[in-house]
Amino acid sequence: MNDPKRYLITSALPYANGPKHIGHLAGAYLPADIYVRYLRAQKRDVVYVCGSDEHGAAITIQAMKENTTPREIVDKYHAMLKSNMADLGISFDIYHRTSEPIHHETAQEFFTVLNNNGDLEQKETEQYYDEEANTFLADRYIVGTCPVCGNDNAYGDQCEKCGTSLSPEQLINPRSTLSGNAPVKRSTTHWYLPLNKHEDFLRQWILEDHKDDWKANVVGQCKGWIEAGLQPRAVTRDLDWGVSLPGDVAGGRGKVLYVWFDAPIGYISATKQWAIDNDKDWKLYWQDKETKLVHFIGKDNIVFHCIIFPVMLKLYGDILPDNVPSNEFMNLEGDKMSTSRGWSIEMDDYIKDFVKKENGGNQLVDALRYYLTNIAPETKDSEFTWKGFQEAVNSDIVGKFGNFVNRSFVLMHKLCGGKVPAFHEAIRDADDEQMLAAVAAAKKAVEDSIEGYKFRDALFEVIMLSDAANKYMQKKEPWIVAKRTTDNGQPTREAQQLIDNCIHICLQVTANLAIFINPFLPFAAKKMCHMMKVVDKMLDWENAGKTNLLSVGYSLRPPELLFRKIDDTEVAEQVEKLKQKSEALKQASKEKKMEEKTQVSAASPAEVEKAKPEIQFDDFAKIDLKVGTIVAAEKVEKADKLLKLQVDLGFETRTIVSGIALHFEPSTIVGKQVTVVTNLAPRKMRGIESNGMILMAEDADGKLQFVNPDEAVHNGSGVS
Ligand code: 2FM
Ligand code: ZN
Repeated sequence: MNDPKRYLITSALPYANGPKHIGHLAGAYLPADIYVRYLRAQKRDVVYVCGSDEHGAAITIQAMKENTTPREIVDKYHAMLKSNMADLGISFDIYHRTSEPIHHETAQEFFTVLNNNGDLEQKETEQYYDEEANTFLADRYIVGTCPVCGNDNAYGDQCEKCGTSLSPEQLINPRSTLSGNAPVKRSTTHWYLPLNKHEDFLRQWILEDHKDDWKANVVGQCKGWIEAGLQPRAVTRDLDWGVSLPGDVAGGRGKVLYVWFDAPIGYISATKQWAIDNDKDWKLYWQDKETKLVHFIGKDNIVFHCIIFPVMLKLYGDILPDNVPSNEFMNLEGDKMSTSRGWSIEMDDYIKDFVKKENGGNQLVDALRYYLTNIAPETKDSEFTWKGFQEAVNSDIVGKFGNFVNRSFVLMHKLCGGKVPAFHEAIRDADDEQMLAAVAAAKKAVEDSIEGYKFRDALFEVIMLSDAANKYMQKKEPWIVAKRTTDNGQPTREAQQLIDNCIHICLQVTANLAIFINPFLPFAAKKMCHMMKVVDKMLDWENAGKTNLLSVGYSLRPPELLFRKIDDTEVAEQVEKLKQKSEALKQASKEKKMEEKTQVSAASPAEVEKAKPEIQFDDFAKIDLKVGTIVAAEKVEKADKLLKLQVDLGFETRTIVSGIALHFEPSTIVGKQVTVVTNLAPRKMRGIESNGMILMAEDADGKLQFVNPDEAVHNGSGVS
């Protein structure tokens, strides 16, 4: 859409279920922020909305993991995400949350309109059910093997590895996330959005109308979906955390809206809240055809933003997105970024390690924004490396951009009395012309690239302009010209005029660089305004390309450091930190598995009857069994099944971690004699080294008893 009256820009609402990494930042937030800052500089009417996605299994499962409530989870992580985004300069007009009443009302009303218009279908179907947890299993409550890429841990609504959107029925070997059990089927009633009825519309709208202006990866994914045949999609769930169905919907009790039905409506409720706060009319942004709506997302969200939400919007009567610039994924040091595997750089960690650690840490926000844009996964997956970060920062923004600005200021103070020198038309030469033409060309190139969502190219143009300016200055070498002096040691008149022209142009280029860099590295742009003693208004885009931005004779401040170098130690520390974090998580997950296995040392009830394969006496003789007395017992923090025991074996007292916490209160077992396998290799469980194993007997009902002598014996007595 050319020259729209207003813009509504959205970034995908992140789940408030944990910290988010810099891959998320690069995918959906930073590009949108650049676009919005550019539009604001153009004095466009633009609103940028986002917020936390606070419903769905992502939240409830995290609450289970952290042994707390969904409410506490969303409160904690919403606060973290909101402040992280602000710290990284993401300039939302509102960062809202989907647990707010205004969102619940908006989503319910949306559902009601579609339901009353007959646009939803109600169906009773058989769905997976976990008999142990007494709950239906959808979305992240069920995992299994992805039929497309073979990932063993694909969710019931999506495979995070290949991005395919799934339904639980498509999973191979499905299992419940809650109990690990294979689910059974039970019947339940749900409301469906019949996507199949909208195929013609989607074909026309995406595959024809937008085939040339949307990114190829977006159109390609949509085509795949449409060609595969669209199916009705359930928009309700049997859960208790989420937006309840409106009270007057028959059969809706105990059901909530599917998180992917309510979350995108979060863009609308956020706009409503923004409008209330700013005395504006939200409807203009969602219903007036002259509004340009743009959704910035990561590639795993394409289907929801290009197929499902647009169908909802069309049915409701709202405008459709003009574009959905989606990014591919950003990998990290040779592997996929993943918070759960510890292979990630969390925004929160970057802020702690770089931004908050030093005065003027905002230059390190810009440094990150620079590198993430420089390697943005706009058309294919890209790769973040700490070494690459160091090289890009040190060579481009320190070595080219920062260096040029700094030299211009230093020379202006040294050779022009700290003031903007005059430009002497009479000696204007081809190099001056070329430099000024490069500014005009950069302006056009930056505009075209940003408007085409090619932020990487746009930023490249800015850096190349600073590079060209460095070369211009190098060629003019005013510090050498200054040596052409008269008897009093001052440069000759001709020499001073040459110096003036060079510095004049360098300063006008600097002012332009501030305007061009502002959408990308806003903190640097602000600092440049301070150095040039101009108000931020100078950064308005209408000033871009002008070569009289700084008035002749105007005195400027001394230069300040715009960016600092990243040194080798910082790179090494971060690489080490990454390795340690992922190792620690690997170890923790191994220990958890071990814990589950060692929960009881006896056979599980199902295996009671099963004999183990025959062994030789020598095999048995290898096991060192001794009697000991439990002298202390306590629960292991954050491990509901484990007890940490101190067992007196006569010759020494050992720490043994045993998976019996669900069966015994610690205080009731102190003083009990037990049989211990004493020569089992030590194992770490939850960070505690366990030096042995307590023998337990387990009956068919799962009841546990210690295996001990009839009467007390000396600790350390052998068992054979
Ligand atoms: O993938 C995600 O993290 C989702 N929470 C994105 C939601 S975007 C929008 F629809 F709200
Ligand atoms: Zn897959």
